[in-house]
Amino acid sequence: MICVEGLSRSHRTDDGELRVLRGISFSVAEGELVALSGPSGAGKSTLLHILGGLDRGYAGKVEVFGRDLARLGEKELGAYRNREVGFVFQASHLVSGLSALENVLLPAYFGGAPPERTRAMDLLARVGLAERAAHPPSRLSGGEKQRVALARALYHAPRLLLADEPTGALDPENARKVIALLRDLCRETRITAVVASHEPEIWRAADRHLRLEEGVLREIPAEGAA
Ligand SMILES: Nc1ncnc2c1ncn2[C@@H]1O[C@H](COP(=O)(O)OP(=O)(O)O)[C@@H](O)[C@H]1O
Ligand SMILES: [Mg+2]
Repeated sequence: MICVEGLSRSHRTDDGELRVLRGISFSVAEGELVALSGPSGAGKSTLLHILGGLDRGYAGKVEVFGRDLARLGEKELGAYRNREVGFVFQASHLVSGLSALENVLLPAYFGGAPPERTRAMDLLARVGLAERAAHPPSRLSGGEKQRVALARALYHAPRLLLADEPTGALDPENARKVIALLRDLCRETRITAVVASHEPEIWRAADRHLRLEEGVLREIPAEGAA
């Protein structure tokens, strides 16, 4: 359901062309949780942005849910980003003047749909924060904020979840909680997920582990496999 073939992406820098992705190919099956590792600067964020329809300056083929992203018009691409993809970043990017619940409802406000408070409350309960619904982000810990961000990313029931170092700003204990939650939510919802992370714990929790290094992607066999 994600099918990438010969994907290349270069960035223009002061020192000339920086070839970040050098013709990578891979596919991800529906419902898979895939961990993406690689040193800082390897192009993990670049790849997630391309998969999420945020970056079109690439060469090669990127097909998600049977659609070639390069062939989508601006409007279709916007709909793809808003309805089919959920994003979680390293920083939770919660809006400080809103409660946790209102933050989960943000996609509804942006999409112009009536806010479904019950759905948002259910999601907050699922990430263990039902009793914090009225709290502003300033009263939540880093780990709690990331759990709200995860609930928000799932609010519109996306088919693809893209997480860019979602535990990168958390202490080990909160990172472990968020990883366990991410894994359980992926299993329950059968969402397809690509999670860029340096955490071996995410690599282990994932169905597959892909590693990006020097522009090349390779599959890391699961531990215990031959
Ligand atoms: N818009 C941009 N313009 C120029 N260089 C960029 C841009 N975005 C990313 N880069 C460079 O591309 C490389 C890959 O970046 P990134 O995808 O953010 O890597 P990662 O997420 O693995 O750390 C880095 O060297 C980064 O500096
Ligand atoms: Mg990055």
